[in-house]
Amino acid sequence: MLIRRPADIRSSEITDKNVYLNRRAFLRAAGAAAMSALGTKTLEAQQAAPHGRQLENVRKSPLSTTEKLNTWGHITTYNNFVEFGPDKADPALKASRMKTSPWTISVEGECAKPGVMNVEDILKGRTLEERIYRLRCVEAWSLVIPWVGFPLADFIKQVEPTSRAKFIEFTTHYDLKQMPGASSPAYRWPYIDGLRMDEAMHPLTILAVGLYGEVLPNQNGAPIRLVVPWKYGFKSVKSIVRIRFVEQQPRTLWTLTAPDEYGFYANVNPEVDHPRWSQATERRLPEFFMRKTVIFNGYADQVARLYRSMDLKKNF
Ligand code: MTE
Repeated sequence: MLIRRPADIRSSEITDKNVYLNRRAFLRAAGAAAMSALGTKTLEAQQAAPHGRQLENVRKSPLSTTEKLNTWGHITTYNNFVEFGPDKADPALKASRMKTSPWTISVEGECAKPGVMNVEDILKGRTLEERIYRLRCVEAWSLVIPWVGFPLADFIKQVEPTSRAKFIEFTTHYDLKQMPGASSPAYRWPYIDGLRMDEAMHPLTILAVGLYGEVLPNQNGAPIRLVVPWKYGFKSVKSIVRIRFVEQQPRTLWTLTAPDEYGFYANVNPEVDHPRWSQATERRLPEFFMRKTVIFNGYADQVARLYRSMDLKKNF
């Protein structure tokens, strides 16, 4: 993600030395990310992901938006996957080296049926749906993506969380041999993020295994990733290897790395400015002009009730 700081605040004045050094690496990485936007068009022409296996028995979902889709080229060449580097082009250039089969997910914590599960077994007999959702990123760009997946709630019910499970935590595969960006001191690894249980059980929340009817390309989080359409894109944990049911709110990569900038809730909210920029508008790639960002990314009717008693300025 893109991180900039005003030059007049010295991080060393307000943070301890380790955090300060960590931050400097983080900002260097973010500078590279900003530069990368310029090269995107060329990359799209040259490096769009190769087409993968077609998924079978995919039915269309009534929960899809009817907005114009972004192309395969946009969706697979302009990515955030910092394990492969800070540049938006890095995942398209470097993620193909990640081996995604066989792939297991370890299910842990407060549930009656923990265990290590093969992705193929998780998918066996499941009906897949195409869900066309907007993805709104903190850095003020957005895309419309035809995901293929299934409700996270269906998976959760299967493993029977206990009454102590208040949150669910997702962890991305972490492998220095396959992920050249994962040695960066800029981030607090591995990539972890989470949801409150009612958010996880919401019918809009899915585990995605494909896009455009095909298996997910590596840069988009193969073989399985989270998609939560009313939240900023950084909640969509890619290439999941662990799912844990926990009592306490998870400590996430972003809340550990930059707690003043990225909150746990991460609901798309045009009224809450990021500390260093407004969140009121966004640029739908590849458009030039900005358009207004909508509260909960346009899903307020379905999700606003989850936050009725919360101050969304404090719980950003
Ligand atoms: N998951 C992992 N493991 N690593 C990441 O860097 N980036 C997040 C999210 N999931 C990220 C991640 C962010 S910031 C965004 S905006 C989305 O992935 C981007 O998803 P996309 O590349 O499929 O558009």
